[in-house]
Amino acid sequence: MEVIQNKEESLTICGGRAVRKTLMPYGHQQIDDEDINAVIEVLRSDWITTGPKVAEFEEAFAAYVGSKYAVSFSSGTGALHGAAFAAELGPGDEAITTPMTFCATANCVLYQGAKPVFADVCPDTLNIDPDEVKRHITQYTKVVLPVDYAGHPADLQSILELASSHGLVVIEDACHALGAEYRGRRVGSISHMTVFSFHPVKHITTGEGGMVTTDDAKLARQLRMFRNHGIDSDARERQANGHWSYEMIALGYNYRLTDIGCALGISQLRKLEPNLDRRREIARLYSAAFQETPGVVLPTVRPGVNPAWHLYPIRLDRSKLRADRSEIFSALRAEGLGVNVHYIPVHLHPYYRERLGYRVGEYPFAENAYRQLVTLPIFHGMKQQDIEDVLDAVKKVTACYESETLANER
Ligand SMILES: Cc1ncc(COP(=O)(O)O)c(C=O)c1O
Repeated sequence: MEVIQNKEESLTICGGRAVRKTLMPYGHQQIDDEDINAVIEVLRSDWITTGPKVAEFEEAFAAYVGSKYAVSFSSGTGALHGAAFAAELGPGDEAITTPMTFCATANCVLYQGAKPVFADVCPDTLNIDPDEVKRHITQYTKVVLPVDYAGHPADLQSILELASSHGLVVIEDACHALGAEYRGRRVGSISHMTVFSFHPVKHITTGEGGMVTTDDAKLARQLRMFRNHGIDSDARERQANGHWSYEMIALGYNYRLTDIGCALGISQLRKLEPNLDRRREIARLYSAAFQETPGVVLPTVRPGVNPAWHLYPIRLDRSKLRADRSEIFSALRAEGLGVNVHYIPVHLHPYYRERLGYRVGEYPFAENAYRQLVTLPIFHGMKQQDIEDVLDAVKKVTACYESETLANER
């Protein structure tokens, strides 16, 4: 890394030389020949939609997380919708969730005609605060929907205890947390239902895809029926049984994941553990390198938790920097880092403000964090040079924007 003499002049946005020439994304899939061959094999077979690979993927996934059942969906969003249906959310019901998430988490409540109620987050992990959940429970609350933000499991024990004393269903949005562990158990085996996403930036991909895991046979039946138009059997079962008749018993959707996607998912799942090791290694390197970097606040890891590091979100301490998040974000982008922001708190989106009456200032911890957050690139396919580029760019940019007082103290 070049030594910063002229402060901002060395920044790429001020005409300096960029740390890297091509933009590094914040997340990226990794597809190898084994994955490609698995998909080709399915393309040459009789079933390309709901065939044998669906059951095979679901069984392998359930075995990995340690749940009795796994039901695949065409996206994490579809899987959340399925879970909201299986929890019997409907008009008049409320589901308590976090504002620090992608809008799909709260949208699934709206799809069912119920009301999403936000509860603020803990300032360290940015996961939903169980005390805030408790404060928002009413006679209408039916579901609690925590998110394992960035791959760090929420305070599941407190949430499950609350749920059990108030008769609530816990749908855990673990779209960031495949492979994470909480008090010695894998995420996916803990809550009543746990939802995963296989979007390409996630730990494994099926192109688009999702999964719900559960130990409850009735919930699993409802999920299967919902993803298939509300029909009580699928085409392959009818072909095997020689029956033509079927009954549609609820209003479901076509949320099926294809055999093509599931073949890719099976192949990707085999590589999940080494991929998680790599993400954990990258997170360790970042945390060690930025420990003393002025203005950079590292993500917290609570005891008893082994995060899956879908994201590596840092927070910028404005009291130590002469620029705000927007300026620093632009400077990092110019250096070649595809940084991102996770998340604009959901209640601040126009749809939520205009249709549900949410206002700025209602969730101060989530809103304050939002103003400080920058997601650094982290994905298992990162090369050593990519990691070094992240370290160099963050150090270069924060050093340039270090506050005068701090600089003078040095
Ligand atoms: C927390 C969270 N929930 C839900 C989703 C939706 O998943 P999908 O993109 O597979 O529909 C995402 C996707 O990014 C997510 O990050």
